[in-house]
Amino acid sequence: MSLEEKMDFRSLTEMVQLARKNLAPGEWDYLVGAADTESSLRRNRAAVDSWVFKPRILNDVSAVDVTSELLGSPMRIPVVLPPIGSVQAFDAGGGTSVARAAKDFGILQILSSACAPDYEAVAQGVPGPRIYQLYLVGDEAWMDDHIERALAAGYTGFCLTADTQVYSRRERDVMKGYVPQSGRTATAGGDFSHQAMMTWDTIAHVKEKHDIPLVVKGVMHGDDAKRCVDAGVDVIYVSNHGGRQLDHTKACVDALPEVAEAVAGRVPVVVDGGFMRGADVVKGLCLGANFVGMGRFEGLAMAAGGYAGLMRGLKILEQEIRISMALLGAPDLAALNASLVERSVPLADPSVLSAFPLIDDY
Ligand SMILES: Cc1cc2nc3c(=O)[nH]c(=O)nc-3n(C[C@H](O)[C@H](O)[C@H](O)COP(=O)(O)O)c2cc1C
Repeated sequence: MSLEEKMDFRSLTEMVQLARKNLAPGEWDYLVGAADTESSLRRNRAAVDSWVFKPRILNDVSAVDVTSELLGSPMRIPVVLPPIGSVQAFDAGGGTSVARAAKDFGILQILSSACAPDYEAVAQGVPGPRIYQLYLVGDEAWMDDHIERALAAGYTGFCLTADTQVYSRRERDVMKGYVPQSGRTATAGGDFSHQAMMTWDTIAHVKEKHDIPLVVKGVMHGDDAKRCVDAGVDVIYVSNHGGRQLDHTKACVDALPEVAEAVAGRVPVVVDGGFMRGADVVKGLCLGANFVGMGRFEGLAMAAGGYAGLMRGLKILEQEIRISMALLGAPDLAALNASLVERSVPLADPSVLSAFPLIDDY
């Protein structure tokens, strides 16, 4: 029996139950927690929940096509695996296990510089297209060196995270004295203040000096989205870091329409924040994203069973996406648009696990 077959949870609810069982309290809270009052996290979830579908009927949905392409790589589902620092805390394989699952399943991973193994070791273990997200803990020459090494290692995209000028206060971690295994402040022994000094000049420099597609993650404002595209940024990534950085931000899915309008189809748009199920992904696409990032989903799947857990989780997610699209009357991704959703009253009290209402019943 293959490793993957042994991981036989039947639903995403069971995946999350397994993750909760497998993780010690410190790791669990690091994964599910957010900054200060955690309201940015709850808003993300409340906003995803606040959209409901207006299905269309009598379209042939006998062959729903959910495939596309991002930065030249085929994408089996319209989902990216976002950068997760210290992902090795959820499964010892860390970034390599995520890389293997992303490759075998057929989607792109964005690897964090704040996890183990490091980007060169991951690339050696699992060759293939991948995006590298680098926190700046050195000067411009230091950054240039890492970009060149990432290119040499086969990375097909480079990501700067713009919502993490400083590290936030995550009270669950603070009150327990929990320090993530690859604490960003200690990344490569460097000085995190370089991250706070990142500006539009940094973007211009990367575009001018390096021949690698650039993703800017953390865009929440239409004006910034426009400025990114004008500066040559190749992928606009709407995110509030899963509510783990600035507290009291608007929800990402609420920032999305303004960003999508500013981008106007010139480059792909990714959104993350509170997306946990297949139907959630479809909502994000209806509202203007080309791809949805699922950070805690990735962490929970890894905690449930590493490589095999992530493969199994992605396959269930794929089923959910396909079923949602078929029942919505959408045979392919191009059929998704804002006319298929409208606002309504959210049902659940929003929380990090409110997408799994049966979690304590079974
Ligand atoms: C445990 C954890 C670690 C993260 N580490 C990083 C990181 O190193 N770099 C980064 O850009 N974003 C990081 N993020 C943010 C994710 O990439 C993503 O934006 C966020 O998880 C999306 O929200 P969601 O968890 O609701 O899907 C992290 C998120 C989590 C949950």
